[in-house]
Amino acid sequence: MTNVVIVGTQWGDEGKGKIVDLLAEIADVVVRFQGGNNAGHTMVVKGEQFIFHLLPSGILQGKICAIGNGVVVDPEVLLEEIDRLSNRNIDIDPQKFFISERAHLIMPYHKAVDAARENFKGNKKIGTTGRGIGPAYEDKATRRGIRFVDLLDPEVFVEKVNTILDEKNFYLKNYLSYETLDAESIIQPYREYADRLAPYVTNISVVLSQAIKSGQQILFEGAQGTHLDIDHGTYPYVTSSNTLAGNACCGAGVGPKQIDEVIGIVKAYTTRVGKGPFPSELFDEIGDKIQEKGAEFGATTGRRRRCGWLDTVLLRNAARLNGLSNIAITKLDVLGEIDTLKICTGYDYQGEILTDFPASLKVLAECKPIYETLPGWSEDISKIKKFDDLPQNVKNYLNRIEELVETKISIVSVSPERDATIVLRNPFL
Ligand code: GDP
Ligand code: IMO
Ligand code: MG
Repeated sequence: MTNVVIVGTQWGDEGKGKIVDLLAEIADVVVRFQGGNNAGHTMVVKGEQFIFHLLPSGILQGKICAIGNGVVVDPEVLLEEIDRLSNRNIDIDPQKFFISERAHLIMPYHKAVDAARENFKGNKKIGTTGRGIGPAYEDKATRRGIRFVDLLDPEVFVEKVNTILDEKNFYLKNYLSYETLDAESIIQPYREYADRLAPYVTNISVVLSQAIKSGQQILFEGAQGTHLDIDHGTYPYVTSSNTLAGNACCGAGVGPKQIDEVIGIVKAYTTRVGKGPFPSELFDEIGDKIQEKGAEFGATTGRRRRCGWLDTVLLRNAARLNGLSNIAITKLDVLGEIDTLKICTGYDYQGEILTDFPASLKVLAECKPIYETLPGWSEDISKIKKFDDLPQNVKNYLNRIEELVETKISIVSVSPERDATIVLRNPFL
């Protein structure tokens, strides 16, 4: 029996959803452990596209799915997602989908504060997704958050909303010059959300522990990416949770000894949405070509993703921080028809060569990427099913990544479709 964590290695949108959906064919349980509906995970099955922001990507394979305590949940968005699936004849059964009673709620004032703050900061903004993620984690850390267990107790819920709202309104109105909120306009809809979501709420740690005891295999679905991690990312241009594999344990309620493997998802080039440093960013027609061919628009906000060359300084950092067992390369097809490919192998900082990711944004801003070049390929690889059938230049690109990151590739994805994937090693088999 194997339990596996999937994490993004770059700045998110690496194709985690696709790989989780693929591996969920054999896993028994899929659990989200951090983030919220800032995530946008896309799956394509027989030409039909699905985008999940909160539901774990194992839902389409009919597996047991759970939202762990480490996730911040906007109940309105979760219900919309459940309803949207139900309209596509996929029902979310309370015997198969569970929400942690300890998961914190995203409240309307979190979204208001997120929007107002970004507005207030002008050109110093982070470029958040505006979903209230940071303010919700902030309240969790300052011990004034509201959890699902509180939502289900009307007395506790009303008391908590009333206590916190005065302060939120004062801040919104007097500091951020934003509209205030009234308690009843929050309590009424949240009462309805509570009624609808109550059947799913339970202790996820217990669910996972029983699953493990009965020999089931767990897939932990990370959101965002290593360099958006609040501790190890490009702070402050990060999200508000720990995105690294280590947080799968805290965010789902399992011990570290339960994790057997960590797979890092690597997009064959680099993208980033929102603001923040990006040393290998492209500002030329190759960047535009990758953006167009890769359809690099955010699955959550629709923003155009910034595109650049593959950066192995990032990837080595991700391998170390997550203890990666192996990597899955996605969107390799997008790099076709580019004469010469570049891979960033280090940064030049004032004449010094850095091979590890610097903590200072000032240093990072001055880093110039050092590139190695490799010949590209012109063949369409999107239908190839076997590694051996890949053109030699594709194999060379992959082999070089393995060497530079010192980590083996276990999966290669060549188009958005679930089946368009070369699996060299399935961790669950
Ligand atoms: P996630 O947030 O890591 O799950 O990634 P997103 O879903 O936000 O973005 C990845 C995008 O790339 C989605 O639109 C996927 O359908 C698409 N995708 C995934 N793998 C491949 C691939 O191998 N080739 C191509 N062309 N697209 C892919
Ligand atoms: P998935 O799971 C890409 C980025 C935002 C912004 C920063 C902070 O789909 O890979 P937040 O709303 O979290 O406070 O925004 O983090 N961001 C993501 N970028 N993919 C994501 O998720 C992201 N989730 C947050 O664009 O720069
Ligand atoms: Mg995404």
